[in-house]
Amino acid sequence: MGGVIVRARSRILHGHDWIYRSEIVKTFGKIEDGDVVSIRDGKDNFLGSGIYSLKSPIAVRRFSRSRQRLDSDFLRRRIVRAWELRKRSGVDGRPCRVFWSEADGLPGLILDKYGENLVLQTLTAGVEREKRLISEVAMEVVGARNVFERNDAVGRASEGLPRIAGPLIVQDNGMEEGKVDFELNGVRFEADLLRGQKTGFYLDQVENYSEVAQFACGKRVLDCFCNGGGFGIFCALRGATEVVGVDSSEVACELARKNAGMNGVSCRFEEGDVFDFMRREARQGRVYDLIVLDPPPFARSGTSPSIALRAYRDLHRCAGQLLTAGGLLATFCCSQNIGAEDFLGAIAEGLWDAGKTARVVRGLSQPPDHPVLVHIPETNYLKGYILEILR
Ligand SMILES: C[S@@+](CC[C@H](N)C(=O)[O-])C[C@H]1O[C@@H](n2cnc3c(N)ncnc32)[C@H](O)[C@@H]1O
Repeated sequence: MGGVIVRARSRILHGHDWIYRSEIVKTFGKIEDGDVVSIRDGKDNFLGSGIYSLKSPIAVRRFSRSRQRLDSDFLRRRIVRAWELRKRSGVDGRPCRVFWSEADGLPGLILDKYGENLVLQTLTAGVEREKRLISEVAMEVVGARNVFERNDAVGRASEGLPRIAGPLIVQDNGMEEGKVDFELNGVRFEADLLRGQKTGFYLDQVENYSEVAQFACGKRVLDCFCNGGGFGIFCALRGATEVVGVDSSEVACELARKNAGMNGVSCRFEEGDVFDFMRREARQGRVYDLIVLDPPPFARSGTSPSIALRAYRDLHRCAGQLLTAGGLLATFCCSQNIGAEDFLGAIAEGLWDAGKTARVVRGLSQPPDHPVLVHIPETNYLKGYILEILR
């Protein structure tokens, strides 16, 4: 097995599992893209086994502190461990993330479960090689019958992997299209596992729908970046007097309308840019009682956090102009490289630009099927707050 020697003070010496190319002193042996490599420090101490990437700035991702290959026994152990965690957390009865990359001990593997359907993403070359084996093992462990591949994620490009989506193993007739429907706390949704965003649904927000909707009774609600309409529809079912959703994706708005229809609630979903929409509403003197802001990550890897923070500030200024005293704002940040404190700072600045102050009613986060590792802060990516506008 080839390997890498890391510099003193590399993050991996402090508990992280990533090795950036700049942290490698030298490589030894023959290494190809996706190979399992041995990781050593400058004194030849063994630090674990990792997956090597020729193209990504993250050259190695550690997946074990032992000498380990990506064989079927190991893959099974990891998937079983992840599935046991979901069962202990009580999320296995709803659509859930079964396996989440580093947080579950195998960087680059994502598995989401919608009933008897699994959606697989393999985001590193090493895991990509094993996708068939992983699918077969995972089907057996979680009791699934069909596996769909959503390897069209942007992140695949930096690994030099092609972007593809399609059915991988389908045992149920008529499932090839990847359309599923399911319930969340009695609320019905449809998801398109092959064409919808992410793996078909924003599974990281499912618990926050109810958290936000408990404040919706009697309120005029604006669900910004609504996608399939989760926040808005939950709010409508909890007695909101009006629900308007906005998303730039026409496909998402169509889906949101369909989801609202399936639940017998009346909501208006409008295709458009949220910033433009909110500015227009402010010019017309419109106000809302509850606004949800769940934007895409403004800071992806490589984007300067200060540019992203400016966008969060602008967004909160626009929302602040549509809220009066007593109004509520449920706001989220899913950018990995923006911390909670910086996000709250951008919220405060944006609201102040609109002449508003606010109090934190509660903090929100990601559900237990997206586990957080303290040594890998990137796993703690979803920050959210419900705020009450004071004046
Ligand atoms: C994080 S997702 C929102 C998920 C949604 N709240 C849910 O629970 O399903 C972000 C959404 O923002 C949309 N989007 C991105 N940029 C936008 C913009 N400038 N204006 C409106 N929508 C935008 C995307 O199409 C995507 O559906």
